[in-house]
Amino acid sequence: MVSIDDKQRVKTGFREQVQGMRKEESMRYICQICGYVYDDDKEKIPFDQLPDDWKCPLCGATKTDFKAEASKSQTPMTQIPKAAVKPVGDNTGASEAADIKKLSPGQLSAVCSDLARGCEKQYKTEEAGLFNELAAYFASVTPAVDDATVENVAKLLQEDIDNYPNVRAVADRNNDRGAARICVWGEKVTRMLSSLVNRYLNEGEAMLEGTDIWVCTVCGFVYIGEEPPELCPVCKVPPYKFEKIEGRA
Ligand SMILES: [Fe+2]
Repeated sequence: MVSIDDKQRVKTGFREQVQGMRKEESMRYICQICGYVYDDDKEKIPFDQLPDDWKCPLCGATKTDFKAEASKSQTPMTQIPKAAVKPVGDNTGASEAADIKKLSPGQLSAVCSDLARGCEKQYKTEEAGLFNELAAYFASVTPAVDDATVENVAKLLQEDIDNYPNVRAVADRNNDRGAARICVWGEKVTRMLSSLVNRYLNEGEAMLEGTDIWVCTVCGFVYIGEEPPELCPVCKVPPYKFEKIEGRA
């Protein structure tokens, strides 16, 4: 015969077991931009109870930029899920060559501007000047875009984010460490830009009141705040490497 005390013991034991399992499965949430970890175990408020306007303490990304880490055995963030990678042909490089497209003047202007910046960093003043001239030329022959809206910028940024796994796959397959590194920084910076543009779409100019916009001159990370961050959340350079963006219309 099972007594009431026995039943109570079973109930209590079961509850403790479930609580133990919950504890084991306590959630950690990772910022997809800077890698900040929000561990429910170590915080006073569980992540899912944080207000919608909560921001990553390190990089300022929104709550939606965090992804739950279900367990320790979860796929590491840096590992690209196979399903996310589109097939890009054989290993000979021929298919990549066939994929190469002619860049538009606007794209060439951006590439030359980046190359100019790269030359500046290496104190190659003459080359930087020439690339800047080319960038200005290509910008001058770039036709005006009819649908230059913030919504379209958000769409283009999302397309870039969606395409990063493919770029990374090609870089890895060709052992191109430089390109692979660009993917790591580039994807994070693009995610942050996308996050900010989407915030702007929701909040409008209010999100920029009483604050400033800072850009990391090394990796391009954009930060909204009164002061630049203590360290760039993406490339880890100190605050003096950040430039304040001024002259906004
Ligand atoms: Fe940076």
